Amino acid sequence: MSVNAFQRQDVQTESIDSRCDRYLRMFDLTQNELRTLRETFNGECRQALRHHKNPINYEPATLKFLDTCVDRPPVGKEAGVFYAIDFGGTNLRTVRVELDGRGGYSMKQNSENIREKHVSDDLPKGLMDPKATASMLFDALAMGVRKLMEAEGDLAERGDHIFGVGFTFSFPMQQSSINSGWCPFWTKGFETGNATDDPVAGGQADICQLLQAAFDRNDVPANCAAALNDTTGTLLSCAYTSYRVKTPPCVVGVILGTGMNAAYYERTAKESGYQGYIINTELGGFNSGLPRNIIDLQVDYADAQPGVNVMEKMCSSLFIPEITRRALLRMFAWEAPDLAWVRYALTTEACMAAAYDSSPDRQAVREVLSVQLEWDVEDLKTLDVVRQLCRRVLQRSARLLAMTIAALAKQTGKLQFAAGGVTVGVDGSVYTKNQPFQKDVREALGLILGESIASLITMKVSSDGSGLGAAILAACEMQKSNGGY
Ligand code: BGC
Repeated sequence: MSVNAFQRQDVQTESIDSRCDRYLRMFDLTQNELRTLRETFNGECRQALRHHKNPINYEPATLKFLDTCVDRPPVGKEAGVFYAIDFGGTNLRTVRVELDGRGGYSMKQNSENIREKHVSDDLPKGLMDPKATASMLFDALAMGVRKLMEAEGDLAERGDHIFGVGFTFSFPMQQSSINSGWCPFWTKGFETGNATDDPVAGGQADICQLLQAAFDRNDVPANCAAALNDTTGTLLSCAYTSYRVKTPPCVVGVILGTGMNAAYYERTAKESGYQGYIINTELGGFNSGLPRNIIDLQVDYADAQPGVNVMEKMCSSLFIPEITRRALLRMFAWEAPDLAWVRYALTTEACMAAAYDSSPDRQAVREVLSVQLEWDVEDLKTLDVVRQLCRRVLQRSARLLAMTIAALAKQTGKLQFAAGGVTVGVDGSVYTKNQPFQKDVREALGLILGESIASLITMKVSSDGSGLGAAILAACEMQKSNGGY
């Protein structure tokens, strides 16, 4: 029987209730599964470290474990005016940070939606399009800094001062020093330069050099002092702002927004041949024993980068609405509205509104379906099935995130009472804008580690932490090259 015939039969013979129930259950993750995944994840961490030290004798893990070349956390004494570019999520942020040298700071920032920039008939994906060149992209980044410098009066008053810039590049990046980096492949639907001879990804172009050349072309008095991943930025900003605060040290930085990833402080990094102590895990690519269902596979195959970052595709805001939409289609089959067939018809905000709707008449779910899918549903049972679906997709994301946090917290060696515990800095809209989600993460940490050990993990929201962290790292580097503190 062909797959299509099988699916038709499946839809025709199974009752809608049983079908809905079957799909809802596909997103469950039990305590046992989570515990096993946590152990597997820690095994992958050990494998990644072994592979980094000895790539000939050890197979690579599914975790990339990239060197960030950051060898010490900030001490809170960094001071001065620095800029940062935070590039790689949905928003492109240009940031000006004034560090006061006592763990305090003031920050100005411009933000624009990168996914909508320069969209035209020739470049349907704008700056993310395979036909957009590296120069176009990096000119846009450099001009963002120039505009903010102008607005803040830094251009007029600078004399011959060159401002240090931290460049948050939120994609996989191989680094051989703090101010150089190569992007082996894009994630999150970016394809800039792939169809041109002016590429970004693929491992040939140094993104710091590309940025520096764009600064020079556009007469921006700036020096790309450091390149870093957004997770490293989040970790650093959380560490900087926790200076003097009596919480355990921040040794893990996590992002769950458009993408998903974490960086952490690895005690044995030097023994494993790393230059820095902070490792960019690229955990969105974790794929060992991951319980992917048929919908996850479809979402993956439909993406510009199939097979890449498969756990990210189960958890992050770029994919949550697509998982939900495809599940709705399968559950309601021909009763689903036409718009449920359209990619990206749903948004993450809508899924969240529906998931956490506690009103007895499911008003939020009704509104989401009507506004986003032009589907007018009155039947309470249908509304509740949709709510449950959104809830379970988000809960699975929270549980997988908690699994990685538990594993990395263990990996730091500080997850025991005698060692004082760890603080985890988190940025990214799925987590920071969503309290019920934060509660789910907390609850899942308890399930995975037991309440007592889980209480050793302090979660700290670090909104816009990656931009701040980049400026802090630029400060550290500029100060180092000027002879230290
Ligand atoms: C990238 C990571 C990044 C994460 C969060 C992923 O797609 O591969 O480098 O940290 O998104 O932005």
